[in-house]
Amino acid sequence: MQADSSSRINRVGSMLEASDLYVNRSGRLVLEDINFVIEKGEFVGIVGPNGGGKSTLLLTILGILQPTKGNVSVFGYDPKTINFNGNVGWVSQSAASIPTKMRMTVRELISLGTISTRDLFSIRRRKNDASVVRAMELVGLSDLADMDIARLSGGQRQRAVIGRALASNAELLIFDEPLVNVDRDSRNGILKLLDDLCHNEDKTLLMVSHDLTAIRQSAHRVIYLDGKVQFDGKTSEIPDLSGLAGLVGLEDVHKHANQEEE
Ligand SMILES: Nc1ncnc2c1ncn2[C@@H]1O[C@H](COP(=O)(O)OP(=O)(O)OP(=O)(O)O)[C@@H](O)[C@H]1O
Ligand SMILES: [Mg+2]
Repeated sequence: MQADSSSRINRVGSMLEASDLYVNRSGRLVLEDINFVIEKGEFVGIVGPNGGGKSTLLLTILGILQPTKGNVSVFGYDPKTINFNGNVGWVSQSAASIPTKMRMTVRELISLGTISTRDLFSIRRRKNDASVVRAMELVGLSDLADMDIARLSGGQRQRAVIGRALASNAELLIFDEPLVNVDRDSRNGILKLLDDLCHNEDKTLLMVSHDLTAIRQSAHRVIYLDGKVQFDGKTSEIPDLSGLAGLVGLEDVHKHANQEEE
């Protein structure tokens, strides 16, 4: 089955599901015995130590990595067998580190989110698409539409790459560390935006972050991943993570949280 930005995939099951999922990388088992179901409209935070397999899980969901055993399904389909163009929005780890030599306006960057394999050559027309205009509004960058991305602050650039994912009108949004290098005001703005997308636009969100404070503030549900799923439940019920093994990588978060309380 193929789908582009103008077509919607008919959902035949849960938004996202992993069952008995095992993933190897370079011959080493990275994810094992992963099971979860995520329904439409959920905002799920994924936390865990460095190397715990968070990005690996996202790449498997996107169909880029292949499970060694078990399976993952998105909209009820095997991600390997379906073209998600336009139906899944993805902001990769370090996505905001766009080379500043690349001359591009905010509007042009966000327009890239509307490109499907079929309409690679119609960027000019798409720059004024209603979806691009709306994405710029949602991320609060309408006033900076014609500004060169090299002149944006870290937080603004992060909002721009989120806007690029939103321009596709995707139902499922997947973010890998969207809050890195973002100042506190922008971070709160982005969290508010993600919350609104979930509540007002009925988007389903999956956000990997080391920032436990941010996850507590915004996600409804948390999956703690360290090779296996160590915790999956309501954000309000996260156990004292210092009691869990292998907390490398969450240290900064505690520092960050303490700083915030000061
Ligand atoms: N391209 C690769 N080839 C082989 N192994 C890899 C590759 N990328 C990651 N790994 C290994 O897979 C494991 C999980 O990595 P992954 O990037 O999924 O972790 P992560 O939870 O996203 O970490 P971080 O918080 O640092 O982003 C690590 O042991 C890592 O070394
Ligand atoms: Mg990662």
